[in-house]
Amino acid sequence: MRMFIFPNLSNELHAMQKAGIVISPWLAGLSGEGRLDAALYHTMSTRTREFAHVHWTEEERVRVLHHLPSPDRIPQIAAHEIVASTAVCLAHERTGQVDVDESLVDEAMNRVNQFVTESSFGTLLQLYMLVTSWENQNALRHFGEIPEREYVLGSWHRPWVDYSLGEELMFAALLGNVEIIERNHHRFVRLTEEGRLALERASAMLEQAGYFKQRLQFLRISQFNLYDAYGQVTDEIWPDTPQQRKDFVRFVGVKPGMRVLELGCANGPLTFEGGLAEAVKPDGQVIAVDPSSGMLARARTKQQSLQIDRVEFVHGRAESLLFDPGSFDLVLGTGFLHFTDLKQSIPEMTRVVRPGGMIGSWHPLKANLNVPFFREWFAPLFALAAKRAEPPRDYLLDSEVVRSEMAAAGLVHIEERSMPITTLFHDPVKVVNHFIRGVGWFSEELAPLPWKAREDLIDDLIERGTFVCERFTPEERIFRFPGQAIRAKRPVN
Ligand SMILES: C[S@@+](CC[C@H](N)C(=O)[O-])C[C@H]1O[C@@H](n2cnc3c(N)ncnc32)[C@H](O)[C@@H]1O
Repeated sequence: MRMFIFPNLSNELHAMQKAGIVISPWLAGLSGEGRLDAALYHTMSTRTREFAHVHWTEEERVRVLHHLPSPDRIPQIAAHEIVASTAVCLAHERTGQVDVDESLVDEAMNRVNQFVTESSFGTLLQLYMLVTSWENQNALRHFGEIPEREYVLGSWHRPWVDYSLGEELMFAALLGNVEIIERNHHRFVRLTEEGRLALERASAMLEQAGYFKQRLQFLRISQFNLYDAYGQVTDEIWPDTPQQRKDFVRFVGVKPGMRVLELGCANGPLTFEGGLAEAVKPDGQVIAVDPSSGMLARARTKQQSLQIDRVEFVHGRAESLLFDPGSFDLVLGTGFLHFTDLKQSIPEMTRVVRPGGMIGSWHPLKANLNVPFFREWFAPLFALAAKRAEPPRDYLLDSEVVRSEMAAAGLVHIEERSMPITTLFHDPVKVVNHFIRGVGWFSEELAPLPWKAREDLIDDLIERGTFVCERFTPEERIFRFPGQAIRAKRPVN
């Protein structure tokens, strides 16, 4: 019976991702409030209710649900949630903020409408049920059981929803995936054996369709969007980096008059304080790219206050650059390469640099984290990874991989310099917020956790950090990440 709800939806998931539709917003730091103002919420609800009413026909109902009773409100909720989530993601992409205005709701409605025209409303509903039941069941698997009240409010696992999850709960119970138990006059929701199997099937399908990868990328960008204090905190935690960025600009060979592409510019610490804009003077130019609109907005504000021209900030990702082949004399960036898919980003950097031009990056490398203060502080992350019998997953690169991808992209004269990154683990709140909420270190470990588990873990890390800072001296809490500055040339022919 369950397979009727979730046939293999891999192709449909791809189509949904291509259409720019998002089902659950997965926003870091967003606890549900303030997605839409009350008036806009009301108009959007009316529009999505009508939309569902028109498209959820009897024919679709039978195609998707067969003989199952129709959970009447779920199609309406699905249309509402998908439009709201898509609009929030659009807001993130465009402004770096989560505030949604009417034009973004219109655009989200258009995307959903287009998808339904090309596919069908029933398929959209199946995707909604697949994704949201993954969120629901994954939370139940994690917590073992969730008080029914919290479950229905979504407060432990989907705090961004502004409607009851009661219908979803009833439907999951009808399918036999969850059960409600009573203890001491309190009711709890938990997974059944059938629910565990359904979760495994859904996880495999979502994994195969690249859904978790997309979810992780979105989470990271939204974290950068929301990270207002990046500039100030990095200077405190990584005190040597302002000077090291200047050294890197010299190492890569930036010269006056060059047209330079900077990737992962964030709020502009390399562009401005690192001396990149200064180095291309008087008639060169810097185009600085970042996928985080929040960071770009901060960089533009800094540019205005410094009154520096010759720099243009552009939204984009290193993996797909909207520039013609050979457009730049030099392509570089600091602290960004480990966020990218190297198999795409290095060939793209190579493509847009002119023959004879340079590309360069400075990035942290994988470190041995088996250091007493670190193990004690970040023990919950080690515990998560220990379940898989491996060290915690992070995005840091192995020392050989960049060199070999550069060689594979046809680059020559590859040269490296060791530039370690001295990191001060001194202020628990700043350290944890910076690494976990801000730059998303260990996000592979944290992203699959339900929302409350992630928040609890962050609180736990801050508390542990306070004890660790008392037990270990400041010198013992200084950690040097290996850092690799690397440059390579595109051959002339
Ligand atoms: C740790 S910050 C480093 C910023 C800055 N260059 C510095 O030296 O401090 C990483 C930046 O890379 C950006 N980023 C993440 N994924 C990226 C991608 N796929 N392509 C380009 N930049 C990316 C983030 O948005 C963020 O602003």
